[in-house]
Amino acid sequence: MAVLDILRYPDPRLHRVAKPVREVDERIRRLVRDMAETMYAAPGIGLAATQVDVHERVIVLDVSDARDELRVFINPEIVRTSDETKVFEEGCLSVPGIYDEVERPDRVVVRALDENGKPFELEADGLLAVCVQHEIDHLDGRVFVQYLSRLKQSRIRSRLLKAERVDA
Ligand code: NI
Repeated sequence: MAVLDILRYPDPRLHRVAKPVREVDERIRRLVRDMAETMYAAPGIGLAATQVDVHERVIVLDVSDARDELRVFINPEIVRTSDETKVFEEGCLSVPGIYDEVERPDRVVVRALDENGKPFELEADGLLAVCVQHEIDHLDGRVFVQYLSRLKQSRIRSRLLKAERVDA
């Protein structure tokens, strides 16, 4: 297992659209294990393969308090969304230190494959629903700051670029 490097906004690779996984094989299971290790080490509650520069449709999540409920979604698809929406303060491992409100459907039904290639369907609400939508956005090349105003986006970009220079 390995902790992988997480791309940081505004890295253009975060805007690549991930391809569907053709076969859930040992390579994908290794990716899932590495992504889970990376997410727990960060620490974070969700990670999409896009964020570790792998452009395939794989997500890991754990929204539990005890950090012992790993959920794996391969080729996830949202098949239903509620009309009601909810505003949540979101953050992202690719946008460190930035938190802001995003409005999304309150409940979603997601269909995906698990790490053994077995299909499942999950009805999610609350934090889990937010997280699933946030991570699927990553697979579509979308980062949550893109829901914010242009002004906020450019402030976040310059703040993170400045931070990167300090890190280096
Ligand atoms: Ni994120």
